[in-house]
Amino acid sequence: MSRSGLLVLAALLPVVLSQLAGTNIPETHPSLTWQKCTGTGGTSCTTQSASIVIDSNWRWLHEGVSGTTNCYTGNTWDTSICPDGKTCAANCALDGADYAATYGITTSGDALTMKFVTVSQQPNIGSRVYLLAPGSTTEYQTFNTNNQEFLPCGLNGALYFSQMDADGGVAKSNGANKAGANYGTGYCDSQCPRDIKFINGVANVEGWVPSSNDVNAGTGSMGTCCPEMDVWEANSISAAFTPHPCTTLGQSTCTGTTCSAPNSTQGTCDQAGCDFNSYRMGNTTFYGPGLTVDTTQKFTVVTQFVGSPATAIQRFYVQNSKVIPNSMSTISGVTGNSITDSFCAAQKTAFGDTNTFSTKGGMATMAEAASAGMVLVMSIWDDHAADMLWLDAPYPPNKAASAPGVTRGTCSPSSGAPATVEAQSPNAQVVYSNIRFGPIGSTFSSTGGTTGGNGGTGTTTSTGSAPTGPTAGQFAQCGGEGFTGPTVCAAPFTCTFMNPFYSQCL
Ligand SMILES: *[C@@H]1O[C@H](CO)[C@@H](O)[C@H](O)[C@H]1NC(C)=O
Ligand SMILES: *[C@@H]1O[C@H](CO)[C@@H](O)[C@H](O)[C@H]1NC(C)=O
Repeated sequence: MSRSGLLVLAALLPVVLSQLAGTNIPETHPSLTWQKCTGTGGTSCTTQSASIVIDSNWRWLHEGVSGTTNCYTGNTWDTSICPDGKTCAANCALDGADYAATYGITTSGDALTMKFVTVSQQPNIGSRVYLLAPGSTTEYQTFNTNNQEFLPCGLNGALYFSQMDADGGVAKSNGANKAGANYGTGYCDSQCPRDIKFINGVANVEGWVPSSNDVNAGTGSMGTCCPEMDVWEANSISAAFTPHPCTTLGQSTCTGTTCSAPNSTQGTCDQAGCDFNSYRMGNTTFYGPGLTVDTTQKFTVVTQFVGSPATAIQRFYVQNSKVIPNSMSTISGVTGNSITDSFCAAQKTAFGDTNTFSTKGGMATMAEAASAGMVLVMSIWDDHAADMLWLDAPYPPNKAASAPGVTRGTCSPSSGAPATVEAQSPNAQVVYSNIRFGPIGSTFSSTGGTTGGNGGTGTTTSTGSAPTGPTAGQFAQCGGEGFTGPTVCAAPFTCTFMNPFYSQCL
């Protein structure tokens, strides 16, 4: 380029509108390894050295690249800096994150720990992170799950795939999003969330209404939709896996009735999804403390997407070297233990639910989204909209608990209010570890031996509830060079030496 060309470019820069990346706190992505498997039986897996990035919604948003004036405080925008979406994006910068201190997010080898409540200058509630491609700070890892199986372990949190743009929406923004995947932008899911602060480089300022029950959130007029495959949504009482197709592939921006809504066929996405929750499907003794899948002990979760395009989603658990197939439906008229189009149709009929899974394209559309590649999302959260009752208690509240499909677990209909959960279980946390991905049969051995123990490859889960007093809970760090926190583990866990830098309550 000629010198004069450069000058012209420089002269144009001040009028380019762009959502900025801040420089006050360096952005250092915590590293996380996962395994890509081939062959069979979990014996041919290679370690991928990657890292995670926290979603942009959780970040400090301030005026200018190195300024300190907030653009957004609590649940409101500063309308002098943010009079409209484009000006706001041009004026405001997303800053780097102090993962451990501010958000309670730490990694160690193949394990990611996410704490529920973390108090630094202000309390942080929950968080959401994405897996980046190995060696990249600007592209998310994308997965094609057709004819693959996926093995995450965890609890009291959600691990799922969303069809986000791998670059965090940079290309779609025409230069307006300068932060990108490096700062965790571009989130979307089948709920078409409207609490996202920036969508493709435009701030969601217009029509913004602060939440009535969440001091950190609000909703703008824009929502961001994309197909979503929930591999694992669980706590120690209930678990569900749920595909949510959308008629539009990839990320799309919605307003008004083009956004999906609860119990509605409007918009492009299946908001309800087609869920398999063992309790809801009639087996009340399968998953939980002391049950067939005992949530007080470690277990491994395997999810298989069978066929290419995938026409069925199967679930196995591995615990104490034993492979446990998913429970069978005991609901009259609904058969099987895997999600297929016919399972979903039968379940919706039996429970009196509208089959939006089918109207948004069912398994075929879900498989198309998978082929295009989906981003891995891991989170821990509480639910300001429905108290998580859809997962572990009777729901919806206007139906009898005894009506078909209403009760999803043993939690009380009055449980799950965020204020209560945050006050009573601030130390709850989730550990996702030993994530493996590969062709069917490649990530685990069906003769067992992949779970826990010495040299074992399986892992993790616990009750998500919190210890009190100066003890560390299950999976919490309890020792290691430079560690200053509690070194005593809450009963019945013991502080176990992992390496000179890390001991853990197991
Ligand atoms: C959804 O709407 C239908 C029809 O309005 C109603 O019968 C049903 O109870 C609703 N379901 C839920 C989960 O609210
Ligand atoms: C629940 O699942 C377990 C394990 O598959 C099985 O042994 C038990 O019979 C099931 N219970 C019901 C009510 O189907």
